[in-house]
Amino acid sequence: MPLDIESVRARLRGRQIVWLDRCGSTMTEAARLAALGCASGAAAGAEEQTAGQGRFGRAWHSERETGLYVSIVLRLDLPEESVRVLSMALGLATAEAIARAADVGCDLRWPNDVLIGEKKCAGILVQVERDAFIAGIGINVNQPAFPEQVAGIATSLRLATGAPHSRERLLIELLGAVDRFTRMLAEGGREPILRMFERASSYVRGKRVTVEQGEHIIEGITDGLDDSGFLWVRRDDGTRALILAGGVRPA
Ligand code: BTN
Repeated sequence: MPLDIESVRARLRGRQIVWLDRCGSTMTEAARLAALGCASGAAAGAEEQTAGQGRFGRAWHSERETGLYVSIVLRLDLPEESVRVLSMALGLATAEAIARAADVGCDLRWPNDVLIGEKKCAGILVQVERDAFIAGIGINVNQPAFPEQVAGIATSLRLATGAPHSRERLLIELLGAVDRFTRMLAEGGREPILRMFERASSYVRGKRVTVEQGEHIIEGITDGLDDSGFLWVRRDDGTRALILAGGVRPA
């Protein structure tokens, strides 16, 4: 069933939400809104993406009418290097929205994968578009199953709980949570977001992981975040590596 966007608009009066039956990627649609000068918080979503984008140039599986695929234009007074902490704030916002709308507790895998157990139920992609950040959020909501290539690493709220969930309620909660967490970052700086992320994520401290770094693989125990939100990993020989980009997996 298509999402009832009018019921969402009625609850979020004054917010611009473009809702499409199908598009290549909502990232492109939101960038278009930003270029036209939309207000911060304007969102573009779709029932289906034919070229959904994931991190590291990967594709994002975007099956029709089952997931939530939305990109939000954020006009925040943040330096461009704050993208990492912004993406962590968006992970916290997504986990909070899922908890409120579906009563499911999520884990966060640094920097911003949203997990149920060890499987991913939501992903976040942040791009910088001239004077705006574009926050792309994909949540697996009512998928009854996943294609073989991703079935081992992906789950949906429906698969995790055994029941379907309202995408309308989830979208309302998500837009509200993104407002709250991005305001916290803009007004309070990085510190509160990093502390909240440390509390919400089982990956920040004491977890044995492998991290792909180009040709190399680092293996060790996670050892907290530095002031910029990078992840420390302590190797078995006692030396520490600062992880600057994702690819973190449980060892
Ligand atoms: C990831 O690889 O974890 C990030 C996935 C981000 C997917 C969302 S779905 C809405 C928005 N549009 C896209 O094409 N990608 C993001």
